[in-house]
Amino acid sequence: MEAVVASVSCRSFSTPISSSSSVAADVDRRCPPSSAGSRVVCSQSLQKDFGRLHLRSSQFLSGTDIGASAPAAGATHGRNFSMAIRANAAQVLNDVASPTKEETTVVNVDLGDRSYPIYIGKGLLNEPELLQRHVHGKKVLVVTNTTVAPLYLSRVVAALKHGGNNVQVESVILEDGEQYKNMEVLMKVYDKAIVTRMDRRCTFIALGGGVIGDMCGYAAASYLRGVNFIQIPTTLMAQVDSSVGGKTGVNHPLGKNMIGAFYQPQCVLVDTDTLNTLPDRELASGVAEVIKYGLIRDAEFFKWQEENIDRILDRDTSALVYAVKRSCENKADVVAADEREGGVRATLNLGHTFGHAIETGTGYGNWLHGEAVAAGTIMSAHMSLKMGWIDDDLFKRIYNITARARLPLRPPGSMDVQLFEDIMAVDKKVADGLLRLILLKGPLGNCVFTGEYDVKALDDTLRHFCRA
Ligand SMILES: NC(=O)c1ccc[n+]([C@@H]2O[C@H](COP(=O)([O-])OP(=O)(O)OC[C@H]3O[C@@H](n4cnc5c(N)ncnc54)[C@H](O)[C@@H]3O)[C@@H](O)[C@H]2O)c1
Ligand SMILES: [Zn+2]
Repeated sequence: MEAVVASVSCRSFSTPISSSSSVAADVDRRCPPSSAGSRVVCSQSLQKDFGRLHLRSSQFLSGTDIGASAPAAGATHGRNFSMAIRANAAQVLNDVASPTKEETTVVNVDLGDRSYPIYIGKGLLNEPELLQRHVHGKKVLVVTNTTVAPLYLSRVVAALKHGGNNVQVESVILEDGEQYKNMEVLMKVYDKAIVTRMDRRCTFIALGGGVIGDMCGYAAASYLRGVNFIQIPTTLMAQVDSSVGGKTGVNHPLGKNMIGAFYQPQCVLVDTDTLNTLPDRELASGVAEVIKYGLIRDAEFFKWQEENIDRILDRDTSALVYAVKRSCENKADVVAADEREGGVRATLNLGHTFGHAIETGTGYGNWLHGEAVAAGTIMSAHMSLKMGWIDDDLFKRIYNITARARLPLRPPGSMDVQLFEDIMAVDKKVADGLLRLILLKGPLGNCVFTGEYDVKALDDTLRHFCRA
């Protein structure tokens, strides 16, 4: 079967790419192995967009070795906008050592005329212009839930109306929880949109975690065949992963995220201050996806995490900003190379086949997504170890960082081998009856997406972690 695993060494980290030639070519163009300088990659729409921030296009750097963040010549609101599309190891140390409160990082998701910025920084909800510039039309529908609404809805509404901005702002507040990520609850969004006469030029805003982001995104993709959409993620999980890349959808009782669409937002606005109200367990859940990026493609980032995991859990602002930034850079890179998951994007699902089985098998909402992914990642690493694809030292490092993040190290006792097998049989990565998995292979930072693995190793791993 198809397999992934060429590695392009990009100075500070290696990029595993699909063997599919189109994906490989795409990655190659974006990430030349011997890149000595930087290139301008921003799309016209982004140039226009950032032009309003008085940035010169020469500051839109990409490639593999961007230098120091370049402060904008005339930043708005006394805030410095630094471009940090992708950082090398020196940049890592620089950023963490000297964060400034005033800095906003912008990571570009490079998708041609559908490119969009991810704004990352402390206190961004107090920057109305950032939000207003991406609102189209005069009508806005904010989709949020019963937990997030009392915390942040009024601030978002105030930002939208700031300066006498003439917009009609409506909101729909959904019940909170993964168990409500379904078609029935989604209907409430359409109901509200129709009743409040949201038109083709309206904007939907997702304010909340990954559940709200996925649901609002799918509503935006399908309402009137597609309306403008903005993500304001308020969990670490959503800030580092679900708000970026355009995967939207809802669960079906028989499988997670089985109904959905690819639909990219206009922008993503990450205010890391929102993480201050997040419960510890939810914060840890997001850390599982941060660890994932290190394991699948960014060894330097994983090493940084080993040194800084306590700062992340303590909600140190500069550590959080850095973790979100580097995660978004990794995700943006992968999505730009393979938006519709023809190859390399599948690697973002490390641990997810086992994880989704845990989420489905235990009933949505009982295990958090990141908790299930963490246990699933340990299971994937175990399988890789059994096949001799990774060494014992790497397995121990994965185990240790997962334990330090206070994430589960194994599936719940209620999951037996048969249940795993039954649920994994309907996984979205099954093709022609063959289950394909993301497995670690080689040194830290490398993985494969493959159907060519030892079935006995899968069986051994399932039996090692759960009862028969
Ligand atoms: N689309 C993608 O690419 C993608 C990627 C990863 C995960 N996901 C999806 O994301 C979902 C998980 O996202 P999640 O972990 O954010 O869960 P979630 O959306 O359920 O949020 C977790 C909890 O935190 C609460 N909350 C949110 N922000 C808060 C804040 N600032 N302060 C206090 N409480 C807050 C929520 O109300 C909820 O109770 C899953 O459905 C998963 O499938 C999607
Ligand atoms: Zn995930």
